[in-house]
Amino acid sequence: MSKRIAVYPGSFDPLHNGHLDIIDRCLPIFDEVVVAVLLNEGKKPLFSSEERVAMIQELLRDRPHCRVESFSGLLVDFMDQKQARTVVRGLRAVSDFEYEFQMALMNRRLNPRVETVFLMPKEDYSYLSSRLVKEVFSLGGNVEGLVPQTVLDLLHKRLRQPAPVA
Ligand code: PNS
Repeated sequence: MSKRIAVYPGSFDPLHNGHLDIIDRCLPIFDEVVVAVLLNEGKKPLFSSEERVAMIQELLRDRPHCRVESFSGLLVDFMDQKQARTVVRGLRAVSDFEYEFQMALMNRRLNPRVETVFLMPKEDYSYLSSRLVKEVFSLGGNVEGLVPQTVLDLLHKRLRQPAPVA
C-alpha cells in the first residue's frame, strides 16, 4: 500500500500553537506529514522562509514522520513532486470556510488527485492567527501560551530588541 502523505501548507509567519495543534492531529492519521512553508518574500513576511523553516524544524524535532520544506508556485505541483494526495488545512471558524472552500475546489480542479481535508484546532486556539500574534506582540501585548517559547524568543529578537547602549 502506498504511503499516506499529507501536506500541511501555509505561510507560518510565524507558526503559532494552533498550527502545532493541527500538526499533532495529523500525526496519528498519516504515515508522513510535510509542513510546506510558502515562499512569499514579495509579501514582506516578518520572518524569511529560511527562518520559518528553521523555526518549525526545531519545534518538530521530536515528532515522528514529520518534515518541513518550503515551496513556491502552485501547491498542487508541490503535491505531485511529493507524491502526496492530501492537503490538510485548519478550520477555525465559519469565517474561514469561504476562502478555504475556494482554495480546495480550485486545487481539485487543477489536480483532481488532490483532496483537501479540514481539521479543527483545539477551541482555545479558534481565534488565533499569525497576523494577530504579530499585531498584538508588536503593540506590547502578551502572546505567551499562544506561540511556542522558541517563537516567542524570535519575536522578541525581531521586534523588541533593546536599543544598543550608546
Ligand atoms: O496560511 P495561509 O497563508 O492562509 O496559506 C495559504 C496557502 C499557502 C495554502 C496558499 O496561498 C497556497 O497554496 N499558495 C500557493 C499558490 C497556489 O497554489 N495558489 C492557488 C491556490 S488555490
